Formats: sequence, C-alpha cells, structure tokens
Amino acid sequence: MVTTTAPTRPRRARNTTVALKASMAVTGVIFVLFVLLHMYGNLKAFAGQEAFDGYAASLRTLLYPYLPHEGFLWIQRLVLVVALVVHFYAAVTLWARARAARGTRYIMHKRQVQTYSSRTMRWGGIIILAFIIFHLLQFTTLTINVGGTFDSPYQRLVTAFQPEHWYVYLAYLVAIVLLTMHVRHGVWSAAQTLGQNNRRRQRGLNLAAYVVAGLLLVGFMAPPTAILLGFVK
Ligand code: HEM
Repeated sequence: MVTTTAPTRPRRARNTTVALKASMAVTGVIFVLFVLLHMYGNLKAFAGQEAFDGYAASLRTLLYPYLPHEGFLWIQRLVLVVALVVHFYAAVTLWARARAARGTRYIMHKRQVQTYSSRTMRWGGIIILAFIIFHLLQFTTLTINVGGTFDSPYQRLVTAFQPEHWYVYLAYLVAIVLLTMHVRHGVWSAAQTLGQNNRRRQRGLNLAAYVVAGLLLVGFMAPPTAILLGFVK
C-alpha cells in the first residue's frame, strides 16, 4: 500500500527531536538558576542562626502582600515540578529514540565509545532525583529528622551535618558531585542545542560550564563541610 505520509515522517521526527532537546535545555537553565540561588542562600549559614533563619523566613514572605504568604514559594515549586516533568519526559524519549535508531549491531559496536558523560547523565540524573526526594523529606516536609526535631531551619541544618551523622554528609557529597557533573555536561549540551555554539565560542562555553559546576560544588559543600569540621556550630 502506498502512503502519502511516509516521506514527511523523518522530518517530523527530526523536528520533535529538536523540540525535545530545546525543552531539555530550557528546563535545564531553570534548574541551574534555581540551584545557583539556593546555593547562594545556603551560604547564609556562615552568617549565623539569626541570618539563616531570617533568610528562610523571608522565602515565605517574598513579594508579600502582592502574593499571599508562601505565594512565591508555591509558584517556584510549580515551575520546578513542571520543569522536572518536561526534563524527565524529554530525556527518556530522546534516549529511547536514539536506542531505536542505532539498532543492536551499532550498540554492540559503539558500547566502548559511548561517552562517559552520556552514561553519567542518565544514572546521575536518576540518583539526583532520588536525592531531591530525600532532601525534601528532610528539610521541607520534615518527615526525616536527623538528630531530633527543631523549629529553627539553622538548627536542623547544623544538627544534620554533625560528625556522628557522617553518612548524611557522604550522601550529600555524592549527590552534589553528581549534580556538578550533570550541570557541567548539561550547560555544554544546552548551549549547543540553543544554537549559541560555534567554534569561536566553544572554549568560552566549555569554561563557563566548568565555572558554574565548580561554583556549585564549592558553594553547596562549604556549609556542610564547615559544620562537619566544627567551624559552624
Ligand atoms: C549541601 C547542599 C544543600 C543544602 C545544605 C540544602 C539545604 C536546604 C534547606 C535547609 C532547605 C529548606 C529551606 C527552607 O524551607 O527554609 C532546602 C530546601 C530545598 N532544597 Fe536544598 N540544600 C542543598 C542542596 C540542594 C540541591 C542540590 C537541590 C536540587 C537539586 C536542592 C533543592 C531544594 C528544594 C527543591 C528545596 C525546597 C524548597 C521549597 O520549599 O519549595 N537542594 N534545602
């Protein structure tokens, strides 16, 4: 049977692949902005309990009275959840599409040259997601309490990273290292997908990817490390 739709399919598939990659890039940018702001906010731990708790409280009153109490926080949560669903759906679809396009012989042949980054992107992404669930249970819903229950977010933070809870520190270290690797590769891919990449800019963008990743690693791990070593009490 002759179909008239057959010749248009590859182009449509190509278009949706570009759209999926673009949506991964755009949602990735949203995540990077969020984690950079979150990391910066966490550094308030160095300014002491009052500053940190004041900062945590201010997240609830941001843009009040234009928004209701916690209004900004809920908008942010909504944006992050939608971005997460889109990012995850696009990742799984692109992965399945690439697998189907390659065929079995190609997979056998190319297994050794499959990039280290693409494998870490997949597994890293899943582990980061598991970390976020644990993290929200610990600091947002307060379902997991490490070392007791406290009204003060600062107390919760400082208690969680005491040396006797070294496994919490280790879990965060693994998650943050994976996050920085994910972001490093992600910034690079996003730049290519969004069409901002050309040979002249390649070095600059690669450097920017390393700088953002390095900032996140140092900035996120600084408060837990200072607490673990007793510099922040
Ligand atoms: C050492 C690393 C981190 C520390 C010490 C930390 C600490 C915290 C704390 C104390 C809160 C509660 C803030 C409050 O409600 O007052 C929080 C919330 C949160 N964190 Fe983190 N965080 C870290 C890394 C991350 C990372 C890597 C992500 C995401 C990839 C993340 C995502 C979130 C989210 C989504 C919330 C909930 C915000 C909301 O209430 O909607 N955190 N974090």
